[in-house]
Amino acid sequence: RAKIRLQTLLEYHSSKTPIVALTAHDYTSGYAADMGGVDIVLVGDSLAMVALGMDSTTELTLNDMIHHAKAVSRAVKSAFLVGDLPFGTYENTPTQALHSAIRMIREGRVEAVKIEGGSEMAPAVQKITSVGIPVLGHIGMMPQRQTSMGGFRAESILVNAKSLQEAGCFGIVLEAIPGNIAKLVTDALVIPTIGIGAGVGCSGQILVQLDMLGSYHKLAPKFVKQWGQVGEISKNCISSYCQEVRKRVFPGPEHTYSIKPEELDLFKN
Ligand code: KIV
Ligand code: NA
Repeated sequence: RAKIRLQTLLEYHSSKTPIVALTAHDYTSGYAADMGGVDIVLVGDSLAMVALGMDSTTELTLNDMIHHAKAVSRAVKSAFLVGDLPFGTYENTPTQALHSAIRMIREGRVEAVKIEGGSEMAPAVQKITSVGIPVLGHIGMMPQRQTSMGGFRAESILVNAKSLQEAGCFGIVLEAIPGNIAKLVTDALVIPTIGIGAGVGCSGQILVQLDMLGSYHKLAPKFVKQWGQVGEISKNCISSYCQEVRKRVFPGPEHTYSIKPEELDLFKN
């Protein structure tokens, strides 16, 4: 499969080809996403919960993110690789945002960064993109701000989306907003929207990989479809392993190295 570049994504957008994005948090999930054929792999800060068992994305550090992004980058050969900037690593000043973005590129080996926020983040987006680092925006429900969630207004979604586009974002994630609003926003922009819980009218879709595989045991939101029950399969495999070890059924001869009986004599001496 040919390497997907930023230019490829923009070509998909202009030909109205849906952009498929999925998260990954380590080498194996990165390999699955890339081999499965997605266009964008996002090392999302959802890794705080689904991979690290934290209660919130706000606990995640830039070093945590870099550690995981680097692992994902070793597996992703074709997809365009994007990494989230964690809470607290870009909001203070545009300079802080640029510093964190550069670390994600150099150490995390990603090709672009994602930050949450609307027009208040426009100066940060401008600063990061000014040195040629592509930025993906993220508005609607913003998990890093969960403690301050109020509702949202359709006009503010549109104003924020336009401001991020103006600031230089190459695309915007729209999370958990009504489908008809997401469609209006998508039609009003020249850059692609990547929806999660935002209906079929977006330019592309993204999901958290462990959610869509049915691997993560905690309740998934309404917008998650599970294409399998991988968590159940894992649990069944492990309980079979436990039973077979306890009955001495595993390991069988086919899993065991052996030597010829005459060599065994040598070994005994
Ligand atoms: O952290 C994440 O996984 C995300 C997406 C699902 C958009 O931000
Ligand atoms: Na995220």
